This record gives sequence, structure tokens and C-alpha cells, in this order.
Amino acid sequence: MKALCHRNVFSSLLSISYLLKTISCSPISLLEQRATTIAPVIDINFPDPAILQDSDNTWYAFATDGNGKNVQVAHALSPSGPWTVLPNDLLPTPGNWSNKQNVWAPDVRKIGSTYVLYYSATDAVQTAQHCVGTATSNTILGPYTAAETPLACNLSIGGAIDSSGFTDTDGTHYVVYKVDGNSIGHGGSCGNAVAPIVPTPLMLQQLASDGVTAVGNPIELLDRDGGDGPLIEAPNLILVDGVYILFFSSNCYTTPLYDVSYATASSLKGPFTKSKAPLIITGNPFNITTPGGAQATVDGKNLVFHANCGAGRCMFERAIEISGTSVSIS
Ligand SMILES: *[C@@H]1O[C@H](CO)[C@@H](O)[C@H](O)[C@H]1NC(C)=O
Ligand SMILES: *[C@@H]1O[C@H](CO)[C@@H](O)[C@H](O)[C@H]1NC(C)=O
Ligand SMILES: *[C@@H]1O[C@H](CO)[C@@H](O)[C@H](O)[C@H]1NC(C)=O
Repeated sequence: MKALCHRNVFSSLLSISYLLKTISCSPISLLEQRATTIAPVIDINFPDPAILQDSDNTWYAFATDGNGKNVQVAHALSPSGPWTVLPNDLLPTPGNWSNKQNVWAPDVRKIGSTYVLYYSATDAVQTAQHCVGTATSNTILGPYTAAETPLACNLSIGGAIDSSGFTDTDGTHYVVYKVDGNSIGHGGSCGNAVAPIVPTPLMLQQLASDGVTAVGNPIELLDRDGGDGPLIEAPNLILVDGVYILFFSSNCYTTPLYDVSYATASSLKGPFTKSKAPLIITGNPFNITTPGGAQATVDGKNLVFHANCGAGRCMFERAIEISGTSVSIS
């Protein structure tokens, strides 16, 4: 309930009025205000984290450009760490379709014996928009070789960002991503709070068995509504006990209203139903600000996400529990 109210206050950015509204929305808010104190597991700027367990059981995390790298990487023996940031840049040379800058939200999947990197970078010509590209390597640390053409690049609707891989039970590979509509919005928070609001749908694109070649056209899984503020983004799809769980973030990442949300469906192509409340918001259930950009482990047991920290946006990790269409986090 509290979080539903939270979704409706996106225009209220003054922290005091935000807090008052948040409290007044829920009878149990005082209890919920006792946020659990947590610390980042990677305490450098490491935004939009993705997580993968390699064949040798080592865990890897990947992040948006920063610290002199296009694609950052860290490894650990378990999702909770301790994590070691590695010196490698997985993608020193982004695709020739891009201007080779602004490499965001990388995700790596092992498909057969090949590691496939999904990423976005700004278009070579229309440099205010991103496209989603692929790159491949025989080793997890690369360097990855970028494909010559992007995987998703409809610039007329805002381009594409936040790609994340998914393999269904029948072995078919997909990628989910966000149409970056707010990049062509009309102003305000994240460029898309002034009418007409531009759609920011989360899309599902089927792939061939190589994990890089598109098969057919993308379909829309979910879009923003009034409660989400200017956008939804950062999709990540898992399947647990027959339920497809689509994690995403609502609101603008530069405001404390950014969150980790999810929607569920009983079939891959939807319809997806948003949960009644986001999973993580500023101050609930953790003492963190501006959480978002989450990715779950494929077994649905752990979640990595970022939140504000002294260095920028650090990586956090927590255990999650999935019961039917309900996700809880501790
Ligand atoms: C990108 O273009 C450069 C020349 O402009 C070429 O040398 C390079 O091989 C191209 N990259 C790929 C992955 O083909
Ligand atoms: C781009 O999106 C528009 C609007 O949905 C659509 O009409 C058009 O066919 C798309 N173009 C491509 C190349 O997919
Ligand atoms: C959470 O609270 C603890 C104790 O006050 C503090 O040390 C820590 O920095 C806080 N974490 C964040 C992310 O604000």
C-alpha cells in the first residue's frame, strides 16, 4: 500500500513532503521506516549490474561504463561476495554502428561454448540515442568482438537500451530491452514528464541459437503507466516454478523515486501484471537511496542492483524469495 502511494507521488521531489506523503499512505509505515542497514558489495561506481555464474561456478558481475572501462567486470565465489573488481575492459571496441561511447547496462550469457555480451552504446550518427548491440568471445573476460550491426536500433521511437538475455525452458534464446522513448521526450524528469509522454516499452526479441541473430520482430511485454512516472526501464526476465518474473525500474534514476519493481506472467509473451508494490524503494526495506537497475540470478535466489553511494552508484546484493507471483527480499 505504501509503495502504491509512492508510485503516485513522483511529482513530489521535496524530500520532506515526500516523506510525509509516504508515511500518510500506510498504517504500518512507522514499522516499515525501520530500514535494514546494508552496505554495498562493490563500493565503486558500478551501475546497472548484471550477474552470471560461469561453468567453473565462479560468479561474475558486469556494469555500465566507468573507471576508465566501457564494460566493467568483477568476480566472486558467491553472489554475496566478497567481490573483486578486475582490471579488464570486456569491450574496448564497441560496434562500428556506434560512436563507441556511453556503453550502458552490459549483460553476459554463455550460449553453447560462446560468451555473448549484450550492451548499448550511442548511435554513430544520432548520438543522443542508444542502440543495443551484441559482441562475442571464447573467454568470459574477453575482449569481446562486436557485431557490425546493432540488434535493436529503432531511432524513430528513441532507440534501445538495457538489454538482458533470457533462455526459455525449450532452449530458445531471447533478449529483453527498453525502447528509450524518454530520450526523445519533451522535457522534465528524465526528459519525459511533459506531455505528450513518449512510451518506454519493455520489448522481447527472439534470437537464433547463436544468441545474436534476431528472429522475427520484437513484441512489447510492458509499458509505463501514470504510477511509474516518466519511464520504466532495466528489464530482466527469469522463470521460476512456471512464473515469468520481469524485474524493472520505474521513475527517473536521478531522483529518489527510482525503484526496483517487478511484473509477472504465466506465459513468456504476457500479459504481464505489475506487482501491487515495488520490491525496493528509497528507504524501504533498506537504508539506501535511489535503488534500481536490478538483475536476478537465473535461479531466482539473489538480486544485484545499484543505489547511490559516495562513489556514484554502487552494487548491492540481497537474497530474494519467490513464491508464485510474489517476490520478497531480505
Ligand atoms: C570497424 O571498422 C574498422 C575500420 O573503420 C575496421 O578496421 C574494423 O575491423 C571494423 N570492426 C569490425 C568488428 O569489423
Ligand atoms: C520503428 O518503430 C515504428 C513505430 O513503432 C514502426 O512503425 C517501425 O516499423 C519501426 N521500424 C523498424 C525498422 O522496426
Ligand atoms: C546505512 O546506515 C549505516 C549506519 O547508519 C551507514 O553506515 C551506511 O552508510 C548506510 N548506508 C547507506 C547506503 O546509506
